[in-house]
Amino acid sequence: MYSDIIAEQKKKYGKRLAILGHHYQSDAIINHTDLKGDSLELARRIEQLEAEYIVFCGVHFMAESAAIVRRENQKVYIPDASAGCVMANMAPAWLVDKVLTRLMEESGRKIIPLAYVNTPAAVKTVCGKHGGTVCTSANAEKMLRWAQEKGDAVLFLPDRNLALNTAEALGIAPEKCMILNIRSEGTLIDVAETKDKELLIWPGLCAIHQRFKLDQIKKFRAEYPDCKVIIHPECPPELVQAADGSGSTSYLIKYVNEAPAGTTIVVGTETNLVLRLKDMFPEKNILPLGTSYCSNMAKITEKNLAELLQNLETAPYEDVSDEIREPARLALQRMLDVCK
Ligand code: 13P
Ligand code: SF4
Repeated sequence: MYSDIIAEQKKKYGKRLAILGHHYQSDAIINHTDLKGDSLELARRIEQLEAEYIVFCGVHFMAESAAIVRRENQKVYIPDASAGCVMANMAPAWLVDKVLTRLMEESGRKIIPLAYVNTPAAVKTVCGKHGGTVCTSANAEKMLRWAQEKGDAVLFLPDRNLALNTAEALGIAPEKCMILNIRSEGTLIDVAETKDKELLIWPGLCAIHQRFKLDQIKKFRAEYPDCKVIIHPECPPELVQAADGSGSTSYLIKYVNEAPAGTTIVVGTETNLVLRLKDMFPEKNILPLGTSYCSNMAKITEKNLAELLQNLETAPYEDVSDEIREPARLALQRMLDVCK
């Protein structure tokens, strides 16, 4: 059994090994983790970990971010490096750099890049080099305020839903926001049109959260008039506005935990987490807004985790070149400093 192999290897390595898991991992994986959390919580913990071997059960950008902030004696592994976040791949670094440079040169304005943590390391490098930073869904409001204070406008990427939901929460008027047309390498952007905008938004999105529809919320409200609806801010703005609450995966867990017994709570996020909430809180009526699994999160299995742990000494680990690491670390560190 793979679970026996994992248990054996954990015993063998003891405190030298830490297995981290994002909330969207399956229960089979979560059961083996030493630490589970949302993107911010996990990123924050890396440096404080005693372990020299850090195995990240999540998608690639999470392991890569851990590799950026790790200490020198630590190595970061992911059981399947092909577990990429589709949204993260919507903003390649070369294009972000090209669009940002053009916007600044042609408008004469200082534009601060603010990258959602769901981005490749090289995008974080672009942010670090241009005085920008990183955010997660848990601190997007705080980090957008931070970025606004540093320049004339902010380029938020790659999640347009998180950008629009954060703008709404901060009271940034819709006419001050602009979703960029990045086709033809960004040459179609009318720079004159960007000049009075506070927030320039990359048009990426997460298909797993985009799948939810306003009608689903309406249907639950009709069937359960007293229900509460909570969703992840990667969902479209019209859904966030119709919900009772929206926040990171840890926010969703906290909300359910604090709700009185008997409450019906409709949860709009990745299905592994919603089903876990249902099991964790049987005294509450937890209903999925819809079924939506992240197929990349699902690439981490007990099989590939067991195989990695059996070959830890020789397995390839996540690393980034110094050229990428230093500016990317600076961008991440700015976020960690603001959100201590
Ligand atoms: P959290 O930061 O809320 O855990 O979300 C990460 C993510 O990828 C959501 O799709
Ligand atoms: Fe990326 Fe969406 Fe999967 Fe999160 S749920 S890892 S944003 S594809």
